[in-house]
Amino acid sequence: MVITTASKEEMLSLWEYNSYREASPTARFFADNIASGNAEFWKIDESGETIGELYVFFDLADKAFADGKTTAYLCAFRIKKEYRGKGLGSRLMEHVLADLRERGFSAATIGVDSTEEQNIRLYHRQGFTEKIKDCFADPCDVDEDMKPKACECYWLLKKELW
Ligand SMILES: CC(C)(COP(=O)(O)OP(=O)(O)OC[C@H]1O[C@@H](n2cnc3c(N)ncnc32)[C@H](O)[C@@H]1OP(=O)(O)O)[C@@H](O)C(=O)NCCC(=O)NCCS
Repeated sequence: MVITTASKEEMLSLWEYNSYREASPTARFFADNIASGNAEFWKIDESGETIGELYVFFDLADKAFADGKTTAYLCAFRIKKEYRGKGLGSRLMEHVLADLRERGFSAATIGVDSTEEQNIRLYHRQGFTEKIKDCFADPCDVDEDMKPKACECYWLLKKELW
């Protein structure tokens, strides 16, 4: 099991796009932010295969999510179905949180659907215990104009890193 950061090309390939040009607006938003250094793509590999991903955004327009100095936003957290429930997601998240702490960030945020009880339990266990607010758009899921798409209500949770 290996946890590393990876390039925007690897992210696009994991999301099954052959090129930047054919990628969705959201995939291009992620790729652009990885390229500029405002986001990081973290992946977990098992026997040479990428089986999980988690992204960090350092600065976003809504500073409650990420403000570039103290608070960073985690999103698009996925472990391949057949590998779930084995502790790999927790290990990936702990690795990324430790890296944020080393960079001097004092808090991390993450969004969760209020109906996703398993995810809420996992995030609470990881220390995301403070609910910041209800959200109705995801800052990293964008439309053709690169504007956040409206979505069902979800909670923005926060964890203090020290
Ligand atoms: C959320 C997710 C990344 C966690 O990764 P994981 O490797 O399964 O997590 P761990 O094994 O470290 O921890 C297991 C915990 O994850 C949570 N979980 C959420 N969905 C799960 C699933 N389908 N299978 C097993 N555990 C799940 C549970 O809280 C579980 O703890 P529990 O034993 O108390 O129920 C993974 O389940 C996943 O990819 N889910 C689908 C995508 C998703 O919902 N992503 C988050 C929102 S973007």
